[in-house]
Amino acid sequence: MAAKLRPKLSLNSQPKKNRPEGEAAQFYDMYPNKCGRFMFGLYNLRPTSVCGLVRGATSRSGFSGTTVCQRRPRRTGRLDMELRPSGVRSVSHTTVDPAEVRRFHSLAGKWWDEQGEFGALHAMNDLRVPFVRDNLLNVHRAHHPGKPLAGLRILDVGCGGGLLTEPLGRLGASVLGVDPVEDSIATARLHSSHDPDLADHVAYRACTLEQLAAEGEQEEHGGAQFDAVVASEVVEHLADLEMFALSCQNVLKPGGSLFITTINKTNLSYALAIVAAEKLLRIVPNGTHDWEKFISPVELERLLESNGFSVQSVQGMLYNPLSGAWSWTNSTSINYALHAVKRSEEDGSSHPEDHAAHS
Ligand SMILES: C[S@@+](CC[C@H](N)C(=O)[O-])C[C@H]1O[C@@H](n2cnc3c(N)ncnc32)[C@H](O)[C@@H]1O
Repeated sequence: MAAKLRPKLSLNSQPKKNRPEGEAAQFYDMYPNKCGRFMFGLYNLRPTSVCGLVRGATSRSGFSGTTVCQRRPRRTGRLDMELRPSGVRSVSHTTVDPAEVRRFHSLAGKWWDEQGEFGALHAMNDLRVPFVRDNLLNVHRAHHPGKPLAGLRILDVGCGGGLLTEPLGRLGASVLGVDPVEDSIATARLHSSHDPDLADHVAYRACTLEQLAAEGEQEEHGGAQFDAVVASEVVEHLADLEMFALSCQNVLKPGGSLFITTINKTNLSYALAIVAAEKLLRIVPNGTHDWEKFISPVELERLLESNGFSVQSVQGMLYNPLSGAWSWTNSTSINYALHAVKRSEEDGSSHPEDHAAHS
C-alpha cells in the first residue's frame, strides 16, 4: 500500500523558519512542500461549506442488506434532549445512520485486503491493540502468560470485518463483535473461521449496540456484562452519540473500560482525513467521512463525563501516508484514542483500580 499511496511531494526542500504553530505544525512537518499544503487546503479552509455538500449527499435514504435494531431502547430523561447544549449529536434515538450503513455494506467484502480501502485500519492495530491491552492490564493483573486478556469480556462495537476483534481474541479475551452491516459480519465470521484458535474467543452478531443494551436490561444483572467496550473509528459514523454513550454504560460492568479511536473536528482533520485521504490519495473511499460528524476530545470527554464515565487518557495518533504506519503523538488535532471507565453508581468512584479488586 505504501507505494500506491506515496504522494509526489518533496520532503526536504522547505526551510523550517516559517513553521506554523499548533495543529498546522503537524501538517507542515508531514507536507513541507508549500504547494502540497496549498493543494490540501490548509490555506483558507472552509470546512463547513464543503461539508454541507457531503451532508446533503449522505442524507439520501434507503439501504439494503442490513440488520438494524427494531426495538427502541428505553428512553430516559437524558435521551429526550434532542440536541445537547454542547452541540453533540442526539437526534434520532438510534445510533444508526442509514447512509453510513449503506456505504459500509458496499465495502463489506474488502475488509481483509491489506492493500485496499481498509489498509490504514490494518496498520492502526499497531497502536490500538497495545492501547487496549495495556490499559486493561493496568486494571486486571494478568496471570495468563501468552494470553494476557484471558477471562475478560470485550464488546467490539462497529467491528466491521473483525480487524480489531481478532487480535483481541488472540490475546485471550472473549470478544463479541457487533455491526449493523450483515455482510460485514459474514466476512468477519468467515475470516475468523480460518483460525481454529479463535473459535473459543471470537463471536459476531449483526446488530447494534443499543439492541444489545436493551436486551441486557431484561437480564438479571441489568445488562452489565462486558469488562470493556471498544469502538474504533466508529463514533464518527453514528447518528446519535448520546445513545451510544448511554448504551455503553448499560453493557459495561462498573469500572469497565471504554476505548474509542476517532477523528478530531479541526481544519487540519478536514484537510487530511477528507481532502487528502479521500479525495487526493484515496487512502479511504471518497465519501467515507462527514466532517460535521467528527468530534473534538473536549466534546467527547464532556459527553462521556455527563453519561457516567471518567476519562482516563486521551492520546493523539498520526498516520504517515508515505510509510503507511501510525505513531503516537502529543497532538490530538487529527486522530486520537481515548480511554474512559464507567463510574460506579454506589460509591461514585472513578478510578479503575478501585474496581479491579472486585473483578
Ligand atoms: C471505519 S469502520 C471501522 C471498523 C472497525 N472498528 C475497525 O476499526 O476495523 C466503521 C464501522 O462502523 C460500523 N457502523 C456504522 N454505524 C454503526 C452503528 N450505528 N453501530 C455500530 N456500528 C456501526 C460500520 O458498519 C463499519 O463497520
